[in-house]
Amino acid sequence: MSSNLFAEDFQKADTIAELYEKINKCEKCSLGKSRNKFVFGSGNPNASAMLIGEAPGAEEDKQGEPFVGRAGKLLTDILTAINFTREEVYIANILKCRPPNNRDPLPSEMETCKPYILKQIDLIKPKVILCLGRIAANSLLNKNLALGKMRDNIYELNNIKVMATYHPAALLRNPNWKRGCWEDVKKFRQLHDELVGTK
Ligand code: URA
Repeated sequence: MSSNLFAEDFQKADTIAELYEKINKCEKCSLGKSRNKFVFGSGNPNASAMLIGEAPGAEEDKQGEPFVGRAGKLLTDILTAINFTREEVYIANILKCRPPNNRDPLPSEMETCKPYILKQIDLIKPKVILCLGRIAANSLLNKNLALGKMRDNIYELNNIKVMATYHPAALLRNPNWKRGCWEDVKKFRQLHDELVGTK
């Protein structure tokens, strides 16, 4: 039966909690069988700012929470630097399950999982989204661009402004990129405040 003709059940979720209930047992791709925990997302379901990474790593797979390993600690520091707490934003990944040995997500895995992040965005309705790294940004925006190009732009997805910066794991490997990231996240905070009205 064509999934175009009949909307899948998860599309009917009215809240983030309901969506979690509908998808957390997903086995649509092989990662659903190899994962330890399904990493849905965390934070404020009414967040005005959303951050989107690539896929869970080992620690995230163990705990069931996004960005809780070394890269996650750096992400927390980045958020703190622009006066956001993890609790007030929403953090999720394109893939909900860990690719074995931290390999890059396959295009087919991203295609299968992407409706979930789109539904999360639809329910949360953030004003701004920050993509963490080239893979997350290209996947979300359906592009095939270098991160350097994407960092220069503000994109739109369903009327939501989307920006991209370095993945925190890349910053751990290349600390000289932190300055550029700092410039990006300051712009992200400013754009957020302009759209939300400073609180
Ligand atoms: N890297 C990601 O892209 N997401 C996580 O949740 C952890 C590491």
